[in-house]
Amino acid sequence: MKKFFSITLVTATILLSSKRNSSTAKNDKGLKDYYKEYFPIGVAVMPSDLKGDEANFILQQFNSITAENSMKMAPIHPAENRYNWNAADSIVAFAQRNGIKVRGHTLCWHNQAPQWMFKDSSGNTVTKEVLLQRLKEHITTVVSRYKGKIYAWDAVNEAISDKPDEYLRSSQWYQICGEEYIAKAFEYAHAADPNAILFYNDYNEINATKREKIYKLVKSLKDAGVPIGGVGLQGHWAINEPSRGQLDSTIKKFADLGLKIQVTELDISVYPKEHNARERKPEDADTAFNAEKENKQIQEYKMCFELFRKYRKVISGVTFWNVSDRHTWLDNFPVRGRKDYPLLFDKDLKPKKVFWEVVRF
Ligand code: GLA
Repeated sequence: MKKFFSITLVTATILLSSKRNSSTAKNDKGLKDYYKEYFPIGVAVMPSDLKGDEANFILQQFNSITAENSMKMAPIHPAENRYNWNAADSIVAFAQRNGIKVRGHTLCWHNQAPQWMFKDSSGNTVTKEVLLQRLKEHITTVVSRYKGKIYAWDAVNEAISDKPDEYLRSSQWYQICGEEYIAKAFEYAHAADPNAILFYNDYNEINATKREKIYKLVKSLKDAGVPIGGVGLQGHWAINEPSRGQLDSTIKKFADLGLKIQVTELDISVYPKEHNARERKPEDADTAFNAEKENKQIQEYKMCFELFRKYRKVISGVTFWNVSDRHTWLDNFPVRGRKDYPLLFDKDLKPKKVFWEVVRF
């Protein structure tokens, strides 16, 4: 009798504790776990996000990180003979310590590029030869430092013009080097780390005119044998765009290129899309995250993730641009000082309703 009791007790304890474990495991399930059969889920971070309550949270929800700013050309290479490695190193070290991926962002971009790059010591514009040599030196140094630790790089960011009748953006890179700088950036990066997957990354890819231009550029690079491995769709979207049809045809179009696709900078603003920066106006007073904004955001996120899952064979990553609604770049863009709520987690890092809509499928 005694034996029977003790066996029953042991069995009950085992049952109870295994139940407890499975329910803990269930509660601990993060975004990355729901999508583990689909694609890695990344997030753009600053070194300060990797300390305090956000660090564990990031590891629970995401399995890839991207430097929001720390690997851009001006922050990492502020003067010709000076590199600032601290911030970028700390992000890569965090990923290595915790066994998660790093997406590099970005090697060549017209914004946040240091002015010394384009000028000689007398302040005159440098020649194409000098600029390409500097680009080569920059890319070789940065990519080599993180060789084998950064699995993918945005080699070139935003080279396409937003003007409907202009193909390439008239940046300093373009003005000095012509179109060639784009292929060169890929070649330099590939030489420094042949295993890194190199992306062309751009925004407003859902717009039919811009999409055609991005497609044309990427196809021409691929056809010319340039080592491009993927197309990054930034995905800075909003409650009113893209439509399902727009997003479906965008992904389909790029999928046909036979390259990998990643959604590289995902956020969905709770305000209707505006493309240009502007000052705050009296009409912008209502910044509360109300039910109307929330419902529209839910519909948009649900639709986007339905399509991401539909195209799982070609989509090799989805990266959110910032961790939670606590702070995001959209608090100051396009309207300075207007609070936005573009992510799946609130300012206390709690999942919003939209989170559950994205993971329940
Ligand atoms: C672009 C860039 C990003 C970032 C965002 C705004 O999308 O690619 O690096 O600067 O703008 O945060």
